[in-house]
Amino acid sequence: MSDEFEYNKLCICTNLRGGDILPSCGKVGSKELADALEQGLKDMKLPYEFQRLHCMGKCHLGPTMRLSPGGPFIMGAKLSDVAHILNLLKDGNFDQLAQEFPLKESA
Ligand code: FES
Repeated sequence: MSDEFEYNKLCICTNLRGGDILPSCGKVGSKELADALEQGLKDMKLPYEFQRLHCMGKCHLGPTMRLSPGGPFIMGAKLSDVAHILNLLKDGNFDQLAQEFPLKESA
Protein backbone atom coordinates (compact mmCIF):
# COMPACT_ATOMS: atom_id res chain seq x y z
CA MET A 1 0.00 0.00 0.00
CA SER A 2 1.01 3.55 -0.60
CA ASP A 3 2.35 5.82 2.12
CA GLU A 4 1.33 8.72 -0.07
CA PHE A 5 -2.28 9.08 1.10
CA GLU A 6 -3.88 9.15 4.53
CA TYR A 7 -6.39 6.51 3.44
CA ASN A 8 -5.36 3.30 1.75
CA LYS A 9 -8.56 1.31 1.63
CA LEU A 10 -12.02 1.71 0.11
CA CYS A 11 -14.82 -0.28 1.69
CA ILE A 12 -18.22 -0.75 0.12
CA CYS A 13 -21.35 -2.41 1.42
CA THR A 14 -22.91 -4.88 -0.98
CA ASN A 15 -25.55 -6.17 1.38
CA LEU A 16 -29.01 -7.07 0.12
CA ARG A 17 -31.14 -6.94 3.23
CA GLY A 18 -34.18 -9.09 3.64
CA GLY A 19 -33.86 -10.67 0.23
CA ASP A 20 -34.45 -7.35 -1.51
CA ILE A 21 -37.38 -6.38 0.72
CA LEU A 22 -35.66 -3.93 3.10
CA PRO A 23 -33.71 -0.80 2.10
CA SER A 24 -30.14 -1.75 1.38
CA CYS A 25 -27.07 -0.89 -0.61
CA GLY A 26 -27.45 -4.00 -2.72
CA LYS A 27 -30.93 -2.88 -3.69
CA VAL A 28 -29.62 0.41 -5.09
CA GLY A 29 -26.79 -0.93 -7.21
CA SER A 30 -23.84 -1.35 -4.86
CA LYS A 31 -22.81 -4.73 -6.30
CA GLU A 32 -22.46 -3.28 -9.79
CA LEU A 33 -20.76 -0.21 -8.33
CA ALA A 34 -18.33 -2.44 -6.40
CA ASP A 35 -17.47 -4.44 -9.52
CA ALA A 36 -16.76 -1.29 -11.52
CA LEU A 37 -14.72 0.35 -8.78
CA GLU A 38 -12.68 -2.78 -8.13
CA GLN A 39 -11.91 -3.16 -11.82
CA GLY A 40 -11.08 0.53 -12.15
CA LEU A 41 -8.70 0.45 -9.19
CA LYS A 42 -6.89 -2.47 -10.82
CA ASP A 43 -6.86 -0.92 -14.29
CA MET A 44 -5.50 2.37 -12.97
CA LYS A 45 -3.12 0.60 -10.56
CA LEU A 46 -4.32 2.80 -7.71
CA PRO A 47 -2.80 2.05 -4.30
CA TYR A 48 -5.97 1.17 -2.44
CA GLU A 49 -7.17 -2.04 -0.92
CA PHE A 50 -10.76 -2.76 -1.83
CA GLN A 51 -13.14 -4.51 0.52
CA ARG A 52 -16.77 -5.51 0.24
CA LEU A 53 -18.58 -5.39 3.57
CA HIS A 54 -21.88 -6.79 4.72
CA CYS A 55 -23.29 -3.62 6.30
CA MET A 56 -22.15 -0.29 7.70
CA GLY A 57 -25.43 0.72 9.32
CA LYS A 58 -26.45 3.28 6.67
CA CYS A 59 -28.74 0.93 4.79
CA HIS A 60 -31.36 3.50 3.73
CA LEU A 61 -28.75 6.00 2.50
CA GLY A 62 -26.54 3.88 0.29
CA PRO A 63 -24.77 2.71 -1.63
CA THR A 64 -22.48 3.12 1.37
CA MET A 65 -18.72 3.40 1.00
CA ARG A 66 -16.07 4.51 3.44
CA LEU A 67 -12.43 5.38 3.21
CA SER A 68 -10.24 3.61 5.70
CA PRO A 69 -8.70 3.87 8.18
CA GLY A 70 -11.23 6.12 9.87
CA GLY A 71 -12.14 8.14 6.80
CA PRO A 72 -15.35 9.77 5.63
CA PHE A 73 -18.36 7.95 4.32
CA ILE A 74 -18.92 8.23 0.57
CA MET A 75 -22.64 7.97 0.02
CA GLY A 76 -25.08 7.50 -2.82
CA ALA A 77 -22.68 7.06 -5.74
CA LYS A 78 -24.00 5.71 -9.02
CA LEU A 79 -22.36 3.59 -11.68
CA SER A 80 -22.00 6.72 -13.80
CA ASP A 81 -19.87 8.28 -11.03
CA VAL A 82 -17.18 5.59 -11.08
CA ALA A 83 -14.71 7.32 -13.41
CA HIS A 84 -14.99 10.56 -11.42
CA ILE A 85 -14.53 8.76 -8.09
CA LEU A 86 -11.49 6.91 -9.41
CA ASN A 87 -9.95 10.19 -10.56
CA LEU A 88 -10.52 11.76 -7.15
CA LEU A 89 -8.91 8.73 -5.51
CA LYS A 90 -6.00 8.92 -7.95
CA ASP A 91 -5.39 12.52 -6.85
CA GLY A 92 -6.02 11.81 -3.16
CA ASN A 93 -8.77 14.40 -3.24
CA PHE A 94 -10.70 12.96 -0.30
CA ASP A 95 -12.29 16.21 0.81
CA GLN A 96 -13.93 16.71 -2.57
CA LEU A 97 -15.01 13.07 -2.63
CA ALA A 98 -16.70 13.44 0.75
CA GLN A 99 -18.31 16.74 -0.25
CA GLU A 100 -19.72 15.41 -3.50
CA PHE A 101 -21.03 12.18 -1.94
CA PRO A 102 -21.91 13.26 1.61
CA LEU A 103 -23.44 11.38 4.46
CA LYS A 104 -26.76 13.14 5.04
CA GLU A 105 -28.19 11.46 8.08
CA SER A 106 -31.51 12.63 9.40
CA ALA A 107 -31.24 13.84 12.96
S1 FES B 1 -27.13 -2.47 3.70
FE1 FES B 1 -25.42 -1.18 3.22
S2 FES B 1 -25.06 -0.09 5.04
FE2 FES B 1 -26.54 -1.56 5.58
